[in-house]
Amino acid sequence: MKRIGVLTSGGDAPGMNPAIRAVVRTALGLGMEVFGIRGGYRGLAENDIFQMNSRNVSGIIDVGGTILKSIRFPEFKEKKIREQAYKNLKGNRIEGLVVIGGDGSAQAAHLLHSEFNLPVVLIPASIDNDLYGTDSTIGFDTAVNTAVDAIDRIRDTATSHNRTFIVEVMGREHGNLALEVGLACGAEIVLIPEMKIDWNKIVEELENQKIQGKASSIIVLAEGAGKAEDVAKLLQAKLPEQEIRISVLGYIQRGGKPSSATRNLATKFGVEAVKMLHEGHYGSMVGIKGRGIVHVPLKEVISKTESPALENLEIVKLMDI
Ligand code: ADP
Ligand code: F6P
Repeated sequence: MKRIGVLTSGGDAPGMNPAIRAVVRTALGLGMEVFGIRGGYRGLAENDIFQMNSRNVSGIIDVGGTILKSIRFPEFKEKKIREQAYKNLKGNRIEGLVVIGGDGSAQAAHLLHSEFNLPVVLIPASIDNDLYGTDSTIGFDTAVNTAVDAIDRIRDTATSHNRTFIVEVMGREHGNLALEVGLACGAEIVLIPEMKIDWNKIVEELENQKIQGKASSIIVLAEGAGKAEDVAKLLQAKLPEQEIRISVLGYIQRGGKPSSATRNLATKFGVEAVKMLHEGHYGSMVGIKGRGIVHVPLKEVISKTESPALENLEIVKLMDI
């Protein structure tokens, strides 16, 4: 394989740039030509493609976001749009594709492979860490650190005013981000979509915290489990004596300099993805299990889900005394 393409797709994640850098430099090192596709699958469909060299990826290992841009492009669900995308790849004599993105990007990558027999490899990149087959996705570690830093700051004002804060974190319909963040910031309560919420129990826990002399509490709420403002209204009605405030972390979780763990995961994934194309391991995602790099068939990635780290909830409860 002599000519490959690379694109970033879906919600951007810190670490996409180190991954692009690793893809480009590994490909050049193997004597390949590498083409960047701007704007995810829309760029593919619109033939927004340019040849890349090593200088294009200088100075980006520590930069958040993606130099190739990313677009939400639901039109790619239409077969005729995918046919145009495939035509553009052929028109540029691009023989293989590296897709850097999340679970939606994985669906599209699988279709490109299954419908056109295109050699495709997915690099899992999402702050949600919601892809089957890998312990971590690019961006997750950085988003956890960003959210924990923000909640450490919220803890200062919560303790100063003896307030209860509900902090809403991202994660779409998964609680992975909330579970990791909640444990690391010493949250008193973590609410995730994978667990049914017993509001009477939550109210009891908050009352007991006051009896134990806890002046303030932090509740980490995964966005898939509800909106912070709704939870605050519900709890304030049941606990009129408590001062309840909210903070929605939002898009700061998607930005910032990638952490060293994110950079190194992204670089290892980028190197492996190009080697997979070079050695004929198509239609798969590169992942990590323990310290080992693994290849996971895309048809498994898109049809299965990992169970969340529910053990974190047990530990959070143990610490809440
Ligand atoms: P993420 O990859 O972060 O989950 P999205 O869900 O937006 O983000 O998916 C990224 C892109 O992948 C979408 O904008 C769309 O172009 C494409 N895509 C997502 N789901 C599908 C699908 N079922 N069929 C075809 N293309 C899809
Ligand atoms: O998938 C990553 C993510 O940040 C989710 O956690 C969040 O719900 C979603 O993207 C936001 O989507 P958008 O960037 O399109 O507003």
